[in-house]
Amino acid sequence: MATTEALQCDVLIIGSGIAGAIAALNLAENENLRIIMLTKYADPLESNTYYAQGGIIYTGEEDSPEQLAEDLTRAGDDLNSREAVAILSHEGPRLVRELLVDKYQVPFTLTPQNELERTREAAHSTSRILHVNDATGRAIQQKLVEALLQQSNIQIMTQYTAIDLLTPAHHSLNRLAIYEPLSCVGAYVYDHDTGQVVTVLSKATVLATGGLGQIFLHTTNPEGATGDGLAMAYRAGARIINAEYVQFHPTTFYHQGGARFLISEALRGEGGRLLNIDGERFMARYEPEWQELAPRDVVARSIHREMLRTGADHVYLDVASVMSAETIRDRFPNIYESCLQYDIDPTVEPIPVVPAAHYFCGGVWVDSWGRTSLQRLYAVGEVTCTGVHGANRLGSSSLLEGLVWGTRAARDIRWQVNGMDAPNPAMIPPWQSTGTDPADPALVRHDMQTIKHSMWYYVGLVRSRQRLERALRDLNTLSQDIDAFYRTTRLEPQMISLRNASLAAIIVARAAWENRESHGCHYRED
Ligand code: FAD
Ligand code: SIN
Repeated sequence: MATTEALQCDVLIIGSGIAGAIAALNLAENENLRIIMLTKYADPLESNTYYAQGGIIYTGEEDSPEQLAEDLTRAGDDLNSREAVAILSHEGPRLVRELLVDKYQVPFTLTPQNELERTREAAHSTSRILHVNDATGRAIQQKLVEALLQQSNIQIMTQYTAIDLLTPAHHSLNRLAIYEPLSCVGAYVYDHDTGQVVTVLSKATVLATGGLGQIFLHTTNPEGATGDGLAMAYRAGARIINAEYVQFHPTTFYHQGGARFLISEALRGEGGRLLNIDGERFMARYEPEWQELAPRDVVARSIHREMLRTGADHVYLDVASVMSAETIRDRFPNIYESCLQYDIDPTVEPIPVVPAAHYFCGGVWVDSWGRTSLQRLYAVGEVTCTGVHGANRLGSSSLLEGLVWGTRAARDIRWQVNGMDAPNPAMIPPWQSTGTDPADPALVRHDMQTIKHSMWYYVGLVRSRQRLERALRDLNTLSQDIDAFYRTTRLEPQMISLRNASLAAIIVARAAWENRESHGCHYRED
């Protein structure tokens, strides 16, 4: 495979969702900085951020940072980092106002009195969430991408997939680099158009690659959420924490054909009720106090138990009997239209729902400034574990976390970057490709399906030693085959994703096996 000359920049940002975009926009305020932003997709809008429905935490009428902190820690089963929670609760609402409302003018839904409308989601003690109907992420992402495109010092490279982070200890031609502390000087990046691998060298690198929902059979996440950042950081030697905490959203649309789009928690926040297959409310049986508004892990497990108890493969969410047809159509237009496509009219009948993998609460350990355990490597957004979410995430806190840590990481880089030397291109060899065979699509697809099935059935909502041991055995064997396959095959995006998904799955399964205590969204029935 041909190689090209290395690209050089001050800051490389891998990912264009809310966390990467906010970091890039803040960095670009320093006109002397050259920033490269990569996305594996053809469109910088595409990301988990784009699909966010419910909203972003702001502040309620009778609210305080302390009250938000209390809600975050209750949802997180008290395993949250106190420092991270305090940062999010104190800085988050101000940044929403300054950046999203005032600077980028996200068209948040307003009340008839022209004030920001605040909705509620499960486990929130008050209505404090801003939203743009039921498509908040799309509106935010559109405004951020518009702003990114106006910055002359940000080069957005679409359809470029980062393969591996560049760490002198692993890649430098100077063999003595192995004695230096681990650090990151950029990434090897696959160009989808040419099939070439480009070396991108940077003084600082920001991982903003999002989540890993696609390692599970059923998920709310788009196709690219294959845990690339987690796997790249792990291979580079970064510290990973809390990987057992994968959040399952209680309500995704159920269809026998396999449709799994999100049915926002805001529907329950505004009164929606869960019914079993016989049309009976059942949450009081499992969680008498909060019922439908209990934390997500509790609601998802209650649904799971009720499905087992009744032998059904789904439950229902009833909104028709608590909201007018007009409210449903106006407030949740996208969910309404998506249900209609499957011949379900939520204004007159309950919506069939089941839980699905939604959000990765663990990830690459970062400090309060987004610094990882590797020098010059920062990480922001869903790929990280800041400690904000503890063992389970409070709804609408993820966009906020991306906003806060995207801003903080950029600030730290701006303070530090002048003291960072540019990496020496002569010391980093071009990518060495090994394989030349085209990847057999049947193998790629089947291997990916095997990972998804193992994770769903053995590392899912309810875990046990026996299931986790089976998962680890199967995943470890498969990963040896995938590594061999990867080495002999011509590089292409699906192979890169498969290799990352395989490692991400092992990281999650191993953490779940090691932790015998049930907390939040990690539930061991043994
Ligand atoms: P993302 O937005 O996922 O962006 C990841 C970026 O990384 C993309 O640009 C992608 O191309 C790039 N990337 C990944 N791998 C590579 C690679 N190898 N090379 C190059 N580029 C790469 N949270 C809330 O707070 N409120 C909500 O209402 C809400 N609703 C949600 C609804 C749905 C359906 C989903 C899926 C999630 C929802 N979440 C919500 C969670 C939230 O959307 C995400 O956690 C958040 O948007 C993650 O942002 P991010 O910037 O970290 O990553
Ligand atoms: C939802 O709208 O239910 C998703 C909110 C979130 O994941 O924070």
